Amino acid sequence: MEELEYPFFFTWVKQKNPLRFSIASVDGVKIYTDTGHELIDMSSISYQASFGHNHPTIIKYMKEQLDTVPMSAPRGIFPGKTEVTHELLKYMDKKDGKIFYTTGGAETVENALKFARDITKRKIVLARQTSYHGATLGALAATGDWRNKAHMIPENWVVRIPEPHEPDAIARTREIILQTGPDKIAAFILETITGGNGVYAGTQEWWDGISELCREFGILLIMDEVICGFGRTGLSFGYMHYNVKPDIICLAKGITGGMVPFGAVWTSEPIHTYYMNNVLANGLTNYAHPMGIAALKGVLEICQDFDFQKHLEHISQVFKREMESLRSMKEVETIRYHGMLAAVDLTVDITWKRFFDNGIHLATQNKRIVLAPPLIITEKELVEGMNRFKNALKDFE
Ligand SMILES: Cc1ncc(COP(=O)(O)O)c(C=O)c1O
Repeated sequence: MEELEYPFFFTWVKQKNPLRFSIASVDGVKIYTDTGHELIDMSSISYQASFGHNHPTIIKYMKEQLDTVPMSAPRGIFPGKTEVTHELLKYMDKKDGKIFYTTGGAETVENALKFARDITKRKIVLARQTSYHGATLGALAATGDWRNKAHMIPENWVVRIPEPHEPDAIARTREIILQTGPDKIAAFILETITGGNGVYAGTQEWWDGISELCREFGILLIMDEVICGFGRTGLSFGYMHYNVKPDIICLAKGITGGMVPFGAVWTSEPIHTYYMNNVLANGLTNYAHPMGIAALKGVLEICQDFDFQKHLEHISQVFKREMESLRSMKEVETIRYHGMLAAVDLTVDITWKRFFDNGIHLATQNKRIVLAPPLIITEKELVEGMNRFKNALKDFE
């Protein structure tokens, strides 16, 4: 890869000779570079390409949309907007709620935080250190990983709570709430299962503890399902693994399979009824963009298809078997997985380029790999992808 000057930035890196690759064409779970090099996408790009790179159902509805109402006004009611939203609520099994549409994950989290602060009239949110919630200032404030360091975020927006696996996590969280002042705390914001930061999940006991603290102190629960939503962890949504009652749910990425920037905030009934007689001070120029609604229509059709659901069940088992087969490798320290989302902590520091050379695209972070293959991947493709992954690990100097 020779060094070239590009008139645009690359994200999250120094701009001198950044990591990049060409995408000449795509086919299902495969990406082809301009030299014809084939990559199996083992991370759904950044967890959004859950249905591959060119799913015909999503493309069909997007093309139809382009030919009818390709753009709209935030207040415009175009064919499909209401029906698709009802369908989303049904698929979420949360029909009593209401949807606020956005243009991506960070905007979703940002609006979720705004809802929580407006409803409670409290400013602070509680968040985990091991987390990523997006790159806008509010979402970045909630984010605990390295990415929030550069931006001089006001220190009094977010208070960190212990990680679920730490001793006495809930009792210590309660202490933190009391020290901070419950009347200052609007919400918890939590990824259901942390995505890019290592696929760490809380136990049912931990979620019960969080729910109890919410009840005790009138704190709202915002669940960030930007990665876990739309089948990623084996169920339709991550919250379905736990007996929790979120007040607000954040959706993005898989909501359109990455075909168009889009997101949604689900709000519970008490929240949306509040706005019957109070002004909603949230909005976006591209609110409920028709191309997003069209792609979502396709995603919901795929996700509710019986054959897809059977496939997801089966392919999750194949993925589990493949993940377990890694345990005996000396290059592998630990693995964690839920459905089609897995983290592999390595004993060796393998470069992204080595995986690329072995024909796979995935997300690497020093010695940690996060695998999230498209949910529509066939067994043959998945086994081939995992073989390429193992080959990249073997005999690494
Ligand atoms: C859990 C989570 N929330 C929010 C976001 C932000 O999404 P976006 O990059 O679409 O703004 C991400 C992105 O990786 C994420 O993983």
